[in-house]
Amino acid sequence: MKVGILTGGGDCSGLNAAIRGVAKSLMHELNAEIIGIEQGFLGLIENNARALDFQDVSGLINKGGTILHTCNNASPFNYQGQDVSGKVLENYRALNLDVIVAIGGDGTMSLCYELSKSGMNFIGIPKTIDNDLAHTDRTFGFETAVDVVVDAIDRLKTTSESHNRVMIVETMGRYAGWIALHAGLAGAADIILIPEFPFDVKEVIAQINKRAEYCSSSIIVIAEGAKAVDGDLTVNKTVQGSPDAIRLGGVGYSLQQQLEQHIPLEVRTTVLGHIQRGGCTSAFDRIFATNVGCYASALIAQKRFGRMVTVHNNHLSSIALKEVAHKVRQVPNDDMTLISALAMGISLGVQNLKIPLASLQDDQVIIG
Ligand code: F6P
Repeated sequence: MKVGILTGGGDCSGLNAAIRGVAKSLMHELNAEIIGIEQGFLGLIENNARALDFQDVSGLINKGGTILHTCNNASPFNYQGQDVSGKVLENYRALNLDVIVAIGGDGTMSLCYELSKSGMNFIGIPKTIDNDLAHTDRTFGFETAVDVVVDAIDRLKTTSESHNRVMIVETMGRYAGWIALHAGLAGAADIILIPEFPFDVKEVIAQINKRAEYCSSSIIVIAEGAKAVDGDLTVNKTVQGSPDAIRLGGVGYSLQQQLEQHIPLEVRTTVLGHIQRGGCTSAFDRIFATNVGCYASALIAQKRFGRMVTVHNNHLSSIALKEVAHKVRQVPNDDMTLISALAMGISLGVQNLKIPLASLQDDQVIIG
């Protein structure tokens, strides 16, 4: 078998561990030939690929980034304004590949699904710090990113206490609040604002004032995709040729401006940005990425192409790429992390938002 591997979209921790897992298991068990495709779909457009041997994929498990490099602005359907998907098919055939393992997020899975219509074989491995891929309970990269945010909150907490300040911490996550919610809970934030619940600035102010009666510092964690009930998404820039051209960012600063007009405390904002995607991979993500990599090899051994590896209720499985394409998984109302946050009095910036613990039944809630 001849198997291509590419990493698409924004990078995250665990990509190298997954490349290593899939490549080593394919070489070891199937004696497969491995081709590394450079810079995601750009490598397929430009026919930029190289053979990988066992040595090339060794010593990688802890390393952040991706040895294959990646790119989130080279859609074959809109590359410099043109549809070059035909060229991609030509290059796939010229490389004589049986299948491509595409390690990516929803943009990558959507492109794989669209390209598979012309006869190309793909196996998807889900990754993203955003944890927002449909039909999988978890993506690698998420847990390492949450660790980074929690470390930042811990640091911001001590300086906010020293200065009696309100600290706003803006996380990534696109249209889903997973990073902000998990890091907010783990970092003991006072207010967590996520896209799933448009916030009321008056409620945020009320919470800060209530807290100020006994403590003058507060931590607000806000996801980049959060917005006020009467506001819009805060767009930082648009990137042409990207499966999702919108880049979010800056909502923390606009919240700061609004708060400063109404509270006596000083407010500061930290936008964590790409720090959340870099650095060493956590032990959890190393194992997780290795497992999904090896499971992708199982699907290849069985020639079950056109599928993405999934995790569901602690079981590894797979689903047709068609089911994943063009979808986003947001935090649902029955997520226990959300319910725990509310139960402990953490505000989501929404008045009277309650999910009473007394209403919970066994097996009803999920841990996302
Ligand atoms: O999807 C991963 C992600 O890091 C998002 O959380 C963020 O909105 C986006 O990528 C940033 O993209 P870029 O690297 O193009 O700035």
